[in-house]
Amino acid sequence: MKVAIIGSGNIGQALGGALVGAGHDVTLAARDAVETDTVAKAIGATTAATAPEALNGAQIVVLAVPYTALADVAAEIKNSVADKIVIDVTNPMGQAPAGTSAAQQLAEWLPGARVVKAFNTTFAGLLATPATHGQTLDALYATDDVDTGDVIAELIRSIGFRPVYAGGLNAAAQLEAMAGLNIQLQIATKGDWRSSFVLVGAPKGALEGLPKAA
Ligand SMILES: NC(=O)c1ccc[n+]([C@@H]2O[C@H](COP(=O)([O-])OP(=O)(O)OC[C@H]3O[C@@H](n4cnc5c(N)ncnc54)[C@H](OP(=O)(O)O)[C@@H]3O)[C@@H](O)[C@H]2O)c1
Repeated sequence: MKVAIIGSGNIGQALGGALVGAGHDVTLAARDAVETDTVAKAIGATTAATAPEALNGAQIVVLAVPYTALADVAAEIKNSVADKIVIDVTNPMGQAPAGTSAAQQLAEWLPGARVVKAFNTTFAGLLATPATHGQTLDALYATDDVDTGDVIAELIRSIGFRPVYAGGLNAAAQLEAMAGLNIQLQIATKGDWRSSFVLVGAPKGALEGLPKAA
């Protein structure tokens, strides 16, 4: 699949590298062109000068930027995302308005895009090693759209994680809270940032994705 990633930091580099390794065609864009070029060369991706340019021809867009930059990036790509799958990986750490989530805000800012919450519950340092701690790690995702869910599950599987459907986009708040807990416990215990999630006894429906219409 052709994937555009906006942001070439920890997640841009780690997820981009994992996707390239799985045979996907990845284009990176961020504001620092020199840094983005260095990262792209290291992982075998291409670069684009601007976010809208990176989206050209991409089926999937990953917004790997800080939560505080999400609104600006959304404004920048708003006219280029019709029908595209937009993955929000951000963890707002309590900064999203009460009663909503970063992903739900993003869906409001990007009408016409198919917004998904995914990859926010996995630390960047583990994205290249989905089989770790003797387990296949879970990548939980939330979306309202059946076809989008199928594509995301396949993308997750392609990089070696087990896709777990957590619910519609309103489940993004829970995914953001889960990631917040994992971050918090790492900070509190001066951890090694290698903790991750595996849902023991996951219901069959969570592993099969969104229910299909009869
Ligand atoms: N690190 C993790 O383990 C992890 C795990 C799960 C989720 N997340 C989430 O993933 C997101 C990225 O985290 P990270 O650790 O990769 O952060 P990071 O290393 O600080 O990278 C952020 C990237 O965003 C770019 N950026 C910032 N503002 C931008 C803008 N307005 N337009 C375009 N690009 C912009 C930055 O580059 P320029 O300044 O050059 O633009 C940089 O490449 C965050 O929301 C974080 O909560 C992180």
